[in-house]
Amino acid sequence: MKINLKDETFHGTADAPWYDTQGKPIQAHGGQVQRFTVDGREKWYWIGEDKTYGYRPCGGIHMYSSDDLFHWKDEGIILRTMQSTDEFEDAYFQTLYGTCSSEEKEKIFVDLDQNNCVIERPKMLYNEKTGKYVIWFHADGRFPGCRGDYDKAKAGVAVCDSPTGAFRLLGTYKLNYHDDPNGDYGFDGWENRGSVRDMNLFLDTDQTAYIIYSSEGNRTTFISRLDDTYTALAVPKEKAEEGVDFTRNFIGGFREAHAMFLYRNKYYMINSGCTAWSPNPAGYAVADHPMGPWKDLGNPCVDEGKETTYDSQSTCVIPVDAGRGRYIYMGDRWREDDLGNSGYIWLPILFSPDGTIMLKKRENWNFTRFPDNATIIG
Ligand code: DGJ
Repeated sequence: MKINLKDETFHGTADAPWYDTQGKPIQAHGGQVQRFTVDGREKWYWIGEDKTYGYRPCGGIHMYSSDDLFHWKDEGIILRTMQSTDEFEDAYFQTLYGTCSSEEKEKIFVDLDQNNCVIERPKMLYNEKTGKYVIWFHADGRFPGCRGDYDKAKAGVAVCDSPTGAFRLLGTYKLNYHDDPNGDYGFDGWENRGSVRDMNLFLDTDQTAYIIYSSEGNRTTFISRLDDTYTALAVPKEKAEEGVDFTRNFIGGFREAHAMFLYRNKYYMINSGCTAWSPNPAGYAVADHPMGPWKDLGNPCVDEGKETTYDSQSTCVIPVDAGRGRYIYMGDRWREDDLGNSGYIWLPILFSPDGTIMLKKRENWNFTRFPDNATIIG
C-alpha cells in the first residue's frame, strides 16, 4: 500500500514507505526530529542513519527538513563516510580535516571508513552558548585487529555551524564506567569498560544536556551529564563520580533504543529490549530528574502487536506541542534482510490524567483525527 504524504496524515503502523519531496525514500533511520530556527526561519529537522546501501557501505548521517512534519526536503548527507584515505585530498574532507596530523587522519579514517565502520542512532543538539550544532552517534565497526561490528562500542562527536553540515568529526570515545574491576560488565568485561552502543541525547529546560547509552555489554543504561559545549562529558571519565556526574539505570535490564522526553514536569523514557534487529516489547519509565531514579511502568503498547511494539523499535519522541500534550513516538521498523528499506512508525503518545501513557495501533492518523476515544490531555 502506498500512501501519499499529501494526505497529511501520518502512516502510523501502516506498512508504507516515506518519501521525501523528490519522491525518494527517506533515509533517516535510528533518527531524531526536532525544531530549530536557522537564519530566522523555524523548521523541523530529521537526522538519521543513511542506509541507502543497506548495512554497508555505511552511508553516513542524513538530514531532512520540513515546515509541517509531513513534507521532507532532502538536505543531504551531513556527515560523510570515506572510501579510502586518498579522499583526505578532496576539497570536502580537506576543508574539514586539512589541519589534522597524519596520525589524527588515520584515526578519523577508522571511524569513517564506509566499508568497515558502523554509524548508528545519530542525535543532534544546538548549543546556545557556542552557536554550534553537535552530533553524537554510536560509533562502532571493524578496525585493524578486530573484525567485530560492535566491539569498538564508542560514542562519536561531530560539530558544525549549521544543522545541514558539513559536520567535522572530533573523535570517538569510551564514556563513564562503574569503577569496580570485579563488577559485572557483561560481554564487554572490565577491559572494555565505558562502552557505548545504543544512545540518545536529552536537552533539559535549563540547557543541561545528557547522553543516554547502553553500556556494560548492554546490561545497563548510563545517563551522563555533558559539559556546557555539549562536545564532552561534564567531568572526564577518570574523575567522574557515579550518582553525581552519571547514573546507572535499569541495571541488568538489557535496554536499548532509549528515547527521553519531558511532559508536565516528569521525565519519561521509552526503550526496548535487546534483540538485535528483531522487534520486542517496548518499556517505559518515569522520573523526577533526567538522571533518574526511574520508575518502571511497563509496556506502553496496548493493542494487538504490543509484544513487538507494532513491529517497531523506539528512536525518539517529538514534543510537537508540549502544552497541548501532542507528542509523537518515532520508531524504526527494521527489515534485517533489507535494512535500506526499513520503515518508520510514528504514533501519538496518549497521556492519561495520572501521567501514564499509551501507544495505540493507528494507521493514517493526525492530531485532529482520532478514530476512538483515547484521552488526549492538553
Ligand atoms: C539494535 C539496535 O537498537 C540497533 O540500533 C542496531 O544496533 C541493532 N541492534 C544491530 O543488531
